[in-house]
Amino acid sequence: MSAPSPNLVQPLRWQGDHLQVLDQRQLPQSEIWLQCRNADDVAAAIHGMAVRGAPAIGIAAAFGLVLAARASEPLAAAAQRLNAARPTAVNLRWALARLMALGTADAAVLVAEAQAIFDEDLQQNLTMARFGADLIEAGSRVLTHCNTGALATAGHGTALGVIRTAWADGRLAGVYNTETRPWMQGARLTAWELQREGIPSRLIADAAVAELMRTERIDWLIVGADRIAANGDTANKIGTHTLAIVARAFGARVMVVAPSGTFDLETADGSAIPIEQRGAEELTAYRGQQVAPAGVAAFNPVFDITPATRVDALVSERGVIRDPDATKVRAMMA
Ligand code: MRU
Repeated sequence: MSAPSPNLVQPLRWQGDHLQVLDQRQLPQSEIWLQCRNADDVAAAIHGMAVRGAPAIGIAAAFGLVLAARASEPLAAAAQRLNAARPTAVNLRWALARLMALGTADAAVLVAEAQAIFDEDLQQNLTMARFGADLIEAGSRVLTHCNTGALATAGHGTALGVIRTAWADGRLAGVYNTETRPWMQGARLTAWELQREGIPSRLIADAAVAELMRTERIDWLIVGADRIAANGDTANKIGTHTLAIVARAFGARVMVVAPSGTFDLETADGSAIPIEQRGAEELTAYRGQQVAPAGVAAFNPVFDITPATRVDALVSERGVIRDPDATKVRAMMA
């Protein structure tokens, strides 16, 4: 993996015989690299959220399959275990299918394809960032959710890539990001990336969005996606749908930014997208510290579905769709 910029944050490093994964659970306090030496190490890193973000887990899974090939393991079984690590982000299935479609167990061939997925992701992010930034008027204020930056991708980011490029253009008068409970990807990761880039931003509690929009004009809510169905319905980090509803209520527009590997044309609409449910302890405790009464039950879906009707612009490396619907999505992905 070649870094395009010396300052680039990277979530993954291929080392020839193993994959290094930056443990995002420890950020921003510590930068600890995990050594994944086989496919199951990679699956555990994905399931355990050491690496997260749809494009990054797709890339990690591709290198996981390379490790299986190097160990002469049956690839179909390894692909199945990697794919099961997280159910919502379709990039996982997409990246594994791309390697499996080569019809070879030759690790050298598979590593070249995994590297190609990595390199393409970075290029696609730069292309999408330009498309997205061009939608943003000078003097705009934007809000983003979760972490969609370099940590979630091969670099630059999807929604955060648009914000980076728009900031470099001088278009932005303000950047806000949510803390993104319960994993705090916004507070821990997005705020860290923005700070490292020298982009001034303000953190808000997830619950502060309506008050933010009542008191400040916010022009765009800009988010990524884990899966986009054929009709443009979008699965993304829990809370995205709430933010989209509030954004619409206050006249802010909603931009979803994702590469073509996030589009799932086999899934007709959002109702068929599997939503990952995680354990109650993610809500009842924080980093091992009990918050809620012991034994309390919880409902913890970690993604939600924003209907296409609440999205103003869907941006991929292939272009921009305004007011997405099935016909427009099919045309862009053809
Ligand atoms: O649970 P996570 O942290 O993997 O969720 C990540 C998101 O929801 C992102 O918005 C999405 O994967 C797009 S990342 C470019």
